[in-house]
Amino acid sequence: MACVVAPSGQACGATVSGVDLSRPLDASEVADIRAAWLEHKVLAFPDQSLTDDDLERFTLAFGPFGADPFFSGLDGHPNIAVISRLADETSSLFAENWHADWTFQEFPPDGTCLYGKVIPPQGGDTLYTNQQAALDAMPADLRAQIEHVVGIHSARGGYAPDGTYGDADADDRSMKIMPSEDAYAVQTHPIIRIHPETGAETMYSTLGYIIGLEDVEPNEARSILRELAAWQTREEFQYRHRWEPNMLVMWDNRCVLHRATGGYDGYDRILHRTTIGYNPDVRTGTVDDELRTL
Ligand code: SIN
Repeated sequence: MACVVAPSGQACGATVSGVDLSRPLDASEVADIRAAWLEHKVLAFPDQSLTDDDLERFTLAFGPFGADPFFSGLDGHPNIAVISRLADETSSLFAENWHADWTFQEFPPDGTCLYGKVIPPQGGDTLYTNQQAALDAMPADLRAQIEHVVGIHSARGGYAPDGTYGDADADDRSMKIMPSEDAYAVQTHPIIRIHPETGAETMYSTLGYIIGLEDVEPNEARSILRELAAWQTREEFQYRHRWEPNMLVMWDNRCVLHRATGGYDGYDRILHRTTIGYNPDVRTGTVDDELRTL
């Protein structure tokens, strides 16, 4: 049976039914899911009873595993990270700021898969914001400030020894995060990029992982990035994802931002996550073409 795709009615996101992800997908199912993913940017697959092997096999149907720095993977499944917060945990919420995943890498992941294992009865939604829609609707004066501008990305705010998850982090964080001096490294990417598969213009990442702008004085860069972040995350560009146990979500890291939300104190929340790495096979141009600003 062909899969059925129901759009969320919000700025992105769709629910997919009629496919069983606990068995290997055939080529036409992979093609259908990829097409829906590119169109809707965030896909939710409810009622999927998946083992860690199934999650890995699904991920590999869409690209190689991405490298997950700063996470210690699951025993026996090094490419699966456990995203968890336990009922009595006092640590700050993980990933509460808007971001795209691992944009401080030279070749950041194309996407992320997140599978709900233990979902609280309330709260814990994941928010997404569509960066293609945000760019399409952007006022010309704001766009002029980021046209041909290159962002400087770094993981230091989160994962350096003096970052959020570094030496001063709460002792009871259940997630296995490994802060490192490596987080001080920087990597550049244009703010406006061409999506390598759809050819659409989109914005890439936001304040947080973007710590500055190339050839822009730091104070001015911070002011542009703050104004930009306010636009990127406006409610009209958002999709609010409500979790259910046994639901798999995959998002296109190249054109959405996301963030975690709280509201589930007193309940466990546990998800298994993989990253779909940079996939040269789906790219038609050279790397320079893909990353160019228009
Ligand atoms: C993440 O950013 O990987 C986690 C999102 C969430 O926990 O909702």
